[in-house]
Amino acid sequence: MLNYEKSTYGERIADMYDWMHSAWEPRETIDAVEGLAMGGAVLELGVGTGRVALPLAKAGLKVTGVDVSPAMLARLREKDPGGLVEAVRGDFSELPVQGRFSVVFAVNSLLQLSDPGDQLRCLIKVREHLEPGGVLAIEEANPAVFTGGGLQVAHISTDELHLVASEYDPVGQHYRAQHVILRNDGVRLNPVALRLTSPAEFDLMANQAGLRLRERWGNWARTAPYVADSRAHISFYEPI
Ligand SMILES: C[S@@+](CC[C@H](N)C(=O)[O-])C[C@H]1O[C@@H](n2cnc3c(N)ncnc32)[C@H](O)[C@@H]1O
Repeated sequence: MLNYEKSTYGERIADMYDWMHSAWEPRETIDAVEGLAMGGAVLELGVGTGRVALPLAKAGLKVTGVDVSPAMLARLREKDPGGLVEAVRGDFSELPVQGRFSVVFAVNSLLQLSDPGDQLRCLIKVREHLEPGGVLAIEEANPAVFTGGGLQVAHISTDELHLVASEYDPVGQHYRAQHVILRNDGVRLNPVALRLTSPAEFDLMANQAGLRLRERWGNWARTAPYVADSRAHISFYEPI
């Protein structure tokens, strides 16, 4: 997409992000990360508005979050005026943070790196910032259920219609979509670009970064196996 930069998704969606995700309760994610951290420091890649990071910080963990979008970080700051979450503005493929973490985690953010070289650089940086015995935990979409193109109706209500127009380039594994929100007072266009990366590709990149797969599930509670039609995979990696 022309003029689409790493920060575009967040800059365009920040004021609607929490409202659009209000039906997706991240309780299982929060509990899983808290359980893995065992009181240690945690780092979120693509912290966004702090949907997951802020409850972790309120539970007493030392939480750092990196995000490339100033608008997303501004929303986080509105919700967290005391700065419980240490918010760092930057690109997680460069990982501009100090220190080591018991858990590094990402929820629906790593596919936003459109270049596989950036994805690998990100994992190498994560490995450098993991404590011995630390864990990288990621939730990313299952490409098998995501590759469609065309136009879908995401939501209809009395005052609103939410459409998703998408296209997929299988050569570059690039998925591009416009979330179009139509209301009486106007139209919003929220673009997103993803590189649909398979779990096997993540495993290979993780190996190159010095990490190996420990577990893979279809949910954070680790009760659902990851299967062909799982919406996402939740993968846990540990240092080799
Ligand atoms: C779908 S949102 C997920 C936010 C949060 N993890 C959650 O679950 O609510 C993806 C986030 O990743 C951020 N992001 C995308 N690419 C990034 C990059 N290269 N470096 C840092 N943040 C990035 C976006 O700005 C956005 O806030």
